[in-house]
Amino acid sequence: MPDEPLVLGIETSCDETGIGIVRGHTLLADALASSVEQHARFGGVVPEVASRAHLEALVPTMQRALDEAGVTLADIDAIAVTSGPGLAGALLVGVAAAKGYAIAAEKPIYGVNHLAAHVAVDTLEHGPLPEPAIAMLVSGGHSSLLLVDDLTAGVTPLGATIDDAAGEAFDKVARLLGLGFPGGPIIDRSARDGDPGSIAFPRGLTAAKDQAAHRFDFSFSGLKTAVARWVEARERAGEPVPIADVSASFQEAVCDVLTRKAIDACLTNGVGTLVIGGGVAANSRLRVLAEQRAAKHGILVRVPRPQLCTDNGAMVAALGSHLVAAGVAPSRLDLPADSAMSLTSVSVPG
Ligand code: KG4
Ligand code: ZN
Repeated sequence: MPDEPLVLGIETSCDETGIGIVRGHTLLADALASSVEQHARFGGVVPEVASRAHLEALVPTMQRALDEAGVTLADIDAIAVTSGPGLAGALLVGVAAAKGYAIAAEKPIYGVNHLAAHVAVDTLEHGPLPEPAIAMLVSGGHSSLLLVDDLTAGVTPLGATIDDAAGEAFDKVARLLGLGFPGGPIIDRSARDGDPGSIAFPRGLTAAKDQAAHRFDFSFSGLKTAVARWVEARERAGEPVPIADVSASFQEAVCDVLTRKAIDACLTNGVGTLVIGGGVAANSRLRVLAEQRAAKHGILVRVPRPQLCTDNGAMVAALGSHLVAAGVAPSRLDLPADSAMSLTSVSVPG
């Protein structure tokens, strides 16, 4: 439909420079430049390296996105940019660029919340999101359960990780198994040849005593330590480490806890839709287990395709488009890069 808003989204909160263009719920372009290889030898994202990579990638990625969509900056109705949360220096590059483009082309600008954008991206694949919905966001930087009443107004955090994020646990366990970075996709592959029931790793914050204070919170640091201890014991005994079995058992522990708590959040809040986003949503076992468990309760699971689950510009454009369509006022031109942006704000007010 030509009267739907044409929105450009800029994402630079971590190590992906993403520029996406959407018209309404239709994805027209999703250009991405990643600095992930530059961080691999450090086993995690180095903020300064990421900022510099954004600076170098931004203009060429912008050009690719415009070319891919077959539009010019003048055609765009609004520019959305991740204002936070994320790495301060990395965010600053995207926010400064968005302001520059907005001033040059005289376009309204929306500073948006990265986590809300992870939820909004699903509309590009599955259409408007039924509200209320429960969103589970699991990535290298965040693990949260959210109640989404109205995506334009704000979301209610139900719980989050109290230590490592789910993706961080995958990355750290892959590192201790000597498998490389980022660990999630490697463990996912390695787990296919392993037995998920071979090692009983702990399920953090699922004990009865944890339910009062941490019912919807996660903890993966104890699990990571348990894997490290198990591997050390094998090595001390001079026995080979069964990488596939460790991968499968570790992955099962993470997916078991994530899906159990997500379904519990749906049932407790009387919600029939679960959206999963963030890099870990690309995990093959998580998708299967979530669907199996949700089906038993008549809950519908929506998971965008893997390219839309990891950080990208399309998700920012999708949230921007949602805000424009709902008549939300654009942000002021002095909008900040807010590394600790709260989930209660979906966009920076005008
Ligand atoms: O959303 P994302 O691209 O960036 C952040 O905002 O962190 O997520 C990256 C994280 C990494 O920790 C990576 O190991 C994990 O998502 N990941 C996976 C899979 N693919 C990526 N974790 C488990 N299974 C996967 N297939
Ligand atoms: Zn993310």
